[in-house]
Amino acid sequence: MKKSADFLLEAKRDSRKIACLTAYDYPTARLLDGEDLDILLVGDSLGMVVLGHPDTTSVRMDDMLHHTRAVARGVAQAWIVSDLPAGSCPSPEAAAENSARLIEAGADAVKIEGGRECLRMIEAIRGAGIQVVGHLGMLPQRVVEEGGYRIKGRSDSEAERMMDDAKALENAGVAAIVLELVYPPVTEQLTSMLRIPTIGIGSGPACDGQILVIHDVIGLFPWFRPKFATARADVAGEIRRAAAEFVQATRSGGKGKPL
Ligand code: KIV
Repeated sequence: MKKSADFLLEAKRDSRKIACLTAYDYPTARLLDGEDLDILLVGDSLGMVVLGHPDTTSVRMDDMLHHTRAVARGVAQAWIVSDLPAGSCPSPEAAAENSARLIEAGADAVKIEGGRECLRMIEAIRGAGIQVVGHLGMLPQRVVEEGGYRIKGRSDSEAERMMDDAKALENAGVAAIVLELVYPPVTEQLTSMLRIPTIGIGSGPACDGQILVIHDVIGLFPWFRPKFATARADVAGEIRRAAAEFVQATRSGGKGKPL
């Protein structure tokens, strides 16, 4: 049965950890949906791992809509969250309109990066009856301004700001908050302070759930994998092996293994 947003508070209440992965296409979404994932995120990380850009900043609404539609075709039970990409929320009206387009494409909720500066956008999206997931800590859409990826919340002032942002997002009605590269003691404080679940990526074990980029988990992006992600398969190696075998079989003129 298709999940509704209620499962998030129920999972937190029952201390059942929420398992989330990204998905960007139909076969991957369908395979992951069959393995009982709670959330499939159509992340704007697709800019890097699918489209070959250096970061997420050049991903546009059309990319998100295209991949959200593909994922939605493969999902029967998981909650689908789609990222609002960089530049898609210049005003509260635009935020609500672009969120509605992602929902129309098959998402169950949208994710927006940022703290109190996003409150007017979040209120407009919630006002349109759309579920929202927040995103605090390292914000990949601001990686260029920030000059790289680094752990957030080590200093008292940064930790305090994040706590205030998290409270404001919860009060504005977000359903959960992704914590990316948050200093683990701060993750722990945020998770016990909030009523809604925290979903961590590179933020330690204390979160109510964990999310990773699927390519990192299955070894499909061999050129880079963050330190916090364990590769549990070597799909890149299998692709290379199968392709080399096919090239060999073709060039041998049909001798050996059949094509
Ligand atoms: O775009 C993405 O994949 C994300 C995750 C890293 C949380 O936002």
